[in-house]
Amino acid sequence: MDEDAVDMTGGTTPEVVVDAAPLQEALEIPGAVPAEVVVEPVGELDVTGRPALVFPIPAPKAHHGPARVLALVNQKGGVGKTTTTINLGASLAEYGRRVLLIDFDPQGALTAGVGVNAYGLDNTVFDLLMEPERVGVRDVIHATSTPGLDVVPASIDLSAAEMALVNEVAREQILARALHPILGEYDYVLIDCQPSLGLLTVNALAAADGVVIPLECEFFALRGMKILVDTIHKVQARINPRLTIDGILATMYDSRTVHRQEVLQRVIDQFGDTVYRTVISQTIKFPETSVAGTPINDYAPTSKGAEAYRSLAREMVFREEPLAPGTPSVP
Ligand SMILES: Nc1ncnc2c1ncn2[C@@H]1O[C@H](COP(=O)(O)OP(=O)(O)O)[C@@H](O)[C@H]1O
Ligand SMILES: [Mg+2]
Repeated sequence: MDEDAVDMTGGTTPEVVVDAAPLQEALEIPGAVPAEVVVEPVGELDVTGRPALVFPIPAPKAHHGPARVLALVNQKGGVGKTTTTINLGASLAEYGRRVLLIDFDPQGALTAGVGVNAYGLDNTVFDLLMEPERVGVRDVIHATSTPGLDVVPASIDLSAAEMALVNEVAREQILARALHPILGEYDYVLIDCQPSLGLLTVNALAAADGVVIPLECEFFALRGMKILVDTIHKVQARINPRLTIDGILATMYDSRTVHRQEVLQRVIDQFGDTVYRTVISQTIKFPETSVAGTPINDYAPTSKGAEAYRSLAREMVFREEPLAPGTPSVP
């Protein structure tokens, strides 16, 4: 048996009822792999049932920025937002990208997950939002033990922000304004959202160029997708016209569990190429790394989980930084 996987057996599969048509229409968005930069398939099918692709190792960058800002959003908790933010960030950093992680969840799991103790800090993302005249974004950036990977931490204080921001002018754009000064210094800014679609998440969507939606491969995965997509469209229409849905990431997949295979198939049937080719399998290593306070790239660098997030990083860079003409597409 694969030591890297968790056994998930038992249970019947209830019907996942979703009205697909409006969702498919809603998800006709940029972000899918453009037709002219298709990578050579390697001749077999991947777990998503599509031709397996190998994404090239990203070319080194001589200069950094301007950053692409991505919000990791799903109003459901426990779907892998924080795990993805940390490990995707660490993988992008491994490929030479400069990455800033923003902890935008008062639970502070991302902050703890990269080994920062929020309680010892004078200022966190909360102070950045509440007192922008006193606290600038550079005051709240901390280096992590991964080279190229920085973090803006959060503490439980942030739970007061939704209420406190309600009476602010342009309250949806406070994060966007706060991040502006450093966008030229990073290649990616990843915002780890809390499990709600409240004012903090709207601030993240207003600051973002793209949304990444982690989706757990389980019975009720697709519940709530319509309300999430509607929220994204409202932000697009009213506040941030450049916002796109960059991709849906299937997480906690287990190929030995029939219902997880079925859920993945449904997600692909409904969302097509918006679903990343990279799928994150279920593995016990992730809960372990949360406790260790370090990305999986450090904790278990050769594990399947670390490889999966490297693959996601390659796929993401490939989608966003199309190859120079003449570059071989498969390493
Ligand atoms: N691929 C995975 N396999 C197994 N456990 C995972 C995986 N991804 C995340 N987890 C665990 O599931 C829990 C919830 O993940 P987390 O990233 O915190 O979700 P969210 O931020 O969406 O609430 C955590 O304990 C995490 O360690
Ligand atoms: Mg989280």
